[in-house]
Amino acid sequence: MIDSLAFVGLGYIGLPTAVVLAQSGVNVVGVDISADRVNQINSGSSPIVEPGLEEALQATLAAGHFKAQVKMPETDAYIVAVPTPFADDYKVDTSYIFSAADAIAPKLREGALVVLESTSPPGTTRKMAERILENRPDLAADGDPNPEGKPVVYFAHCPERILPGKALEELKTNDRIIGGMSPRATELATQVYRSFCDGELLPTDDVTAEMAKLTENSFRDVNIAFANELSIIADKLGIDVWELIELANHHPRVNILQPGPGVGGHCIAVDPWFIVSADPENSRIIRTAREVNDGKPNWVLSKVEEAVAAKPDSVIAVLGLAFKANIDDLRESPSLKIATQIAKSFSSHRVLAVEPNIHELPAALTGFPNVELAEVNAAINEADIVVLLVDHKEFVGLWGQDLAAKTIIDTKGLWPRQS
Ligand SMILES: NC(=O)c1ccc[n+]([C@@H]2O[C@H](COP(=O)([O-])OP(=O)(O)OC[C@H]3O[C@@H](n4cnc5c(N)ncnc54)[C@H](O)[C@@H]3O)[C@@H](O)[C@H]2O)c1
Repeated sequence: MIDSLAFVGLGYIGLPTAVVLAQSGVNVVGVDISADRVNQINSGSSPIVEPGLEEALQATLAAGHFKAQVKMPETDAYIVAVPTPFADDYKVDTSYIFSAADAIAPKLREGALVVLESTSPPGTTRKMAERILENRPDLAADGDPNPEGKPVVYFAHCPERILPGKALEELKTNDRIIGGMSPRATELATQVYRSFCDGELLPTDDVTAEMAKLTENSFRDVNIAFANELSIIADKLGIDVWELIELANHHPRVNILQPGPGVGGHCIAVDPWFIVSADPENSRIIRTAREVNDGKPNWVLSKVEEAVAAKPDSVIAVLGLAFKANIDDLRESPSLKIATQIAKSFSSHRVLAVEPNIHELPAALTGFPNVELAEVNAAINEADIVVLLVDHKEFVGLWGQDLAAKTIIDTKGLWPRQS
């Protein structure tokens, strides 16, 4: 029975999961290498925007079921949710996982469980286990040959698939894949996730679990690429892509996704590359989808160039910088990329950047004297060209005010079409 647990990495995934685990009665120590983050969390303030998280954090701190610290504790189980970005060659950077493994290894006791939640290429959980066991030759992984009868520890991969903005709800309701390196590791990890998750817990092995997460996000990426490609073709043919997709989706077996300014975030824009790097030769559709989605911001920029050519002294409002609606996460955001390129390409124009979920300009935009962070109504009043990049709730009801008189580039199909 696992009564206490360390959650390693208190970011967008780690903090909500650690708090939900603590709410279920497990004693959770949150571990993060950032002392500032640890102090902020212990003061009851959430470093990320996630509905309900700050209140839940404060309640678990007050109940004594959760605390954050920099030092790795000795405990029954460890769940690792540290970053897995890719390097320039699109291969995963496992340095965060290995540094977490190095911190866990000296604390690991017989029977402990280590779960990797970070999204990773096939084989990464095993590499993490090997790294830990290199530091702890007195232990063996359950399921591995163990002729000397060493005390065993357990390893599993349990990928995360919550929707930012609905994290607390989806942590409890989503089905979870539980991939142990041995059947007993799967059982132990299942106990941990059962303590807070009402969804179905789906047992498998570690490598299949790793590949399942990458497969889900590649499926989404390929289907979004289809919608993005359609949007470019439709524009060229003078067809409203939103109407086109709506009509096509009346077919009982067709369900086309919605196009946008590109694909961003830490998951869909990254994970397919882990499949491509695992088998470059056979990942042709997956790679092409990445290229189509990565190319969409340039197409949006070409539309802005056309608009500026028609209105040479224009003020440009850019609505939304986050990678998706109603969150503050700017990582891999195509909107931020587009806003930065607009700032650079049109340096003699005022650019009003609107992002209701942040309070200061992100680093990518601070170097441009022509850019300011603006409130949405003020920006629309002043702008001649409005580029809508994110369907934040604050932007939904804006149509009708002064918008009809502006040049609109609506990448999300949020507002009525201009005739
Ligand atoms: N954000 C999402 O929506 C999402 C969804 C599913 C899966 N994931 C995956 O979850 C993992 C974590 O993503 P995230 O969005 O939570 O990242 P994040 O950047 O928000 O948080 C990571 C945290 O880990 C900390 N950290 C880094 N190295 C550490 C170490 N050695 N020891 C302790 N703490 C360390 C950082 O300081 C940071 O607070 C990634 O693999 C990501 O792909 C993310």
